[in-house]
Amino acid sequence: MRKTALVTGATSGLGSEFARQLAERGHAVVLTGRNEARLKETAEELAAQWQVPTEWLAADLATADGVAAVAARVAQPDIGILVNNAGYGLKNDFHANPLQDEVDHLNVLVSAPLQLSHAAVNSMLGSGGGTILNVASVAGFLPRGTYSAAKAWGISFSRWANIHYRDRGINVTAVCPGFVHTEFHQRMQMDKSVYPNWMWLDAPRVVREALADADAGKAVSIPSKRYKVLAAIGARGPQRLVARIAGRGR
Ligand SMILES: NC(=O)c1ccc[n+]([C@@H]2O[C@H](COP(=O)([O-])OP(=O)(O)OC[C@H]3O[C@@H](n4cnc5c(N)ncnc54)[C@H](OP(=O)(O)O)[C@@H]3O)[C@@H](O)[C@H]2O)c1
Repeated sequence: MRKTALVTGATSGLGSEFARQLAERGHAVVLTGRNEARLKETAEELAAQWQVPTEWLAADLATADGVAAVAARVAQPDIGILVNNAGYGLKNDFHANPLQDEVDHLNVLVSAPLQLSHAAVNSMLGSGGGTILNVASVAGFLPRGTYSAAKAWGISFSRWANIHYRDRGINVTAVCPGFVHTEFHQRMQMDKSVYPNWMWLDAPRVVREALADADAGKAVSIPSKRYKVLAAIGARGPQRLVARIAGRGR
């Protein structure tokens, strides 16, 4: 089995936890993100703690050059696991965001995972398979602005790819967390205290459930029972209720 895992957005939050748990499982890990100093620090820490080879690759996934650099690494024959995790939310309503901010956001959340998955599938098909995790969100089951629309792409693509490539040894899983304590909300300048405690999950638990669901070959992973229920309401619930939730989104 190919041993190396490449994780995007590995500087903090879920990405850093994916890197940690994959290293703990014995995988060599490639950490990518924009902040080189933080990537290097985590890579060195994981190498020391788990005795696995680690490397880092600084790249901005909103840019064509950044995606090309990461795709070139993904296409190397040692990569057996790709975690498309990098992402963020925009602060303002759609109309109030500068158009370029929306385009960059779409590039990071959709275009980059598409291009990296393309590189991974082509490489993995040639050598017995692998695993791709696309970190989406429960927001992908709700109509809540361009963030939800982008995450819905990740869910739909993963569902299809899971069926299509399963027999050729490639498993694709969309990971759909609810609110998780990471740097996500702080980067968005969002007040976390407006959401009740029960809505918050910890990154180690989300990643543990996501990796177990990927091991089981599931197309969609929704960590925790509470968010499985919320996702079911979003996907199949009464339209008036879904519209009320959506009305609060951007
Ligand atoms: N936290 C939640 O409540 C939650 C819920 C559902 C889904 N998610 C999803 O989970 C994923 C991880 O987010 P998180 O919660 O762990 O947030 P986070 O702690 O803010 O981490 C986001 C990561 O994405 C990277 N990133 C952002 N923009 C990038 C760019 N242009 N190019 C390359 N890397 C970039 C960041 O690294 P650099 O700054 O070094 O580039 C960072 O490592 C995202 O896709 C997010 O949408 C989060």
